[in-house]
Amino acid sequence: MFERLKSVPIDPILGLMNAFKADPRETKIDLGVGVYQNSSGKTPIMTAVKKAEFALHQNENTKTYQGMTGDIDYNTHISELIFGSENSISNSDKSCTLQAPGGSGALRVGAEVIARTKENATIWIGDPTWANHIPIMTKTGLKIKTYPYYDFKTHSIDFDAMIAQLKKIPAGDFVLLHGCCHNPTGADLTLNQWSEVCSVASQTGFIPFIDIAYQGLGNGLDEDVQGLRILANNLPELMVASSCSKNFGLYRERTGAISFLCSSDVQSKIVLSHAMSAARSLYSMPPAHGALLVAAVLGDHALRQEWEKELEQVRRRIESMRKMLCQKLETNNHGQDFSHIKMQKGMFSFLGITPDQVTKLRDIHGIYMVSSTRINIAGININNIDYLCDSILDVL
Ligand code: LMR
Repeated sequence: MFERLKSVPIDPILGLMNAFKADPRETKIDLGVGVYQNSSGKTPIMTAVKKAEFALHQNENTKTYQGMTGDIDYNTHISELIFGSENSISNSDKSCTLQAPGGSGALRVGAEVIARTKENATIWIGDPTWANHIPIMTKTGLKIKTYPYYDFKTHSIDFDAMIAQLKKIPAGDFVLLHGCCHNPTGADLTLNQWSEVCSVASQTGFIPFIDIAYQGLGNGLDEDVQGLRILANNLPELMVASSCSKNFGLYRERTGAISFLCSSDVQSKIVLSHAMSAARSLYSMPPAHGALLVAAVLGDHALRQEWEKELEQVRRRIESMRKMLCQKLETNNHGQDFSHIKMQKGMFSFLGITPDQVTKLRDIHGIYMVSSTRINIAGININNIDYLCDSILDVL
């Protein structure tokens, strides 16, 4: 039977990991997959996480099943991180959070629940978006539509076009938004723009589904959720898919969560039952390890402070690499404008070169980026930035 199958194309982001590993050149640079690298090009385990892991190793006394919702403490901490510990939503029965296998698992469970709300349930996704959004949503049978997000000419959000489309979305449709550090553009909504999105949602009745995979890597842990909280504090229903891959560096531990805000506590119980049944048929229960570490870090004052400091260093390093990259490219200017890179947030920006130049950078110089020209700023450091800039200028 397997001879009936034809190969499918390799994932545009994860495929780069293998190609990069196989490249023998010592000068190669990985600007592909969204993984943080420190100033030495390494992706270390955060110290607070390592300490929590050591304590878990000493104290963990069972590996029994946790159940479909995962770790209850983790779910509470994540809800507080997103909605705010002082915010009544975090402790209200109108909201519920379910641990999920990474941000992708959270998105998939969320999409499964949406697909159960009605026949032909529809989700609107910004263009461009993370390469895995549409495949995840499509698998659940949801109808996919797009709204404009980014203007490639001005390197910024085309907010007028976005809002014009959002105003036409029918009540009961869902709209996927990036909470912060937009992937792939790095262009985030301002708080005024979030407020405008919020009033359009309350007029039209669409339901926001916010994907937040980079909380803390943009402007700060609380700052990065201000837009999301505007929606949560003013709309009756929304959904949030979150991830601890980047801000806790727990990539391979697959640690995420799906949260729902519902119009009543009765509704919330019903929604949770659907999320659990979706989880059961997809993967049964989420993996425990990462969530236990996050709960341990967030539940301990000293560890939490240490983690927040480390996260701030991550954010600051990315910011400084953004500035340095612009400065160096601008000094040797070939007429191309790269100034958007220093204004944008999080791990990614579009470099804005041609597909042919992307291929040349990889083939001639060993510099890997997604074909859309998305670069992971965290792959840049003071040892490789000159080679990177020279190579970019060479192919321009
Ligand atoms: C990325 O966008 O590079 C990361 O979120 C990793 C992934 O799974 O695509």
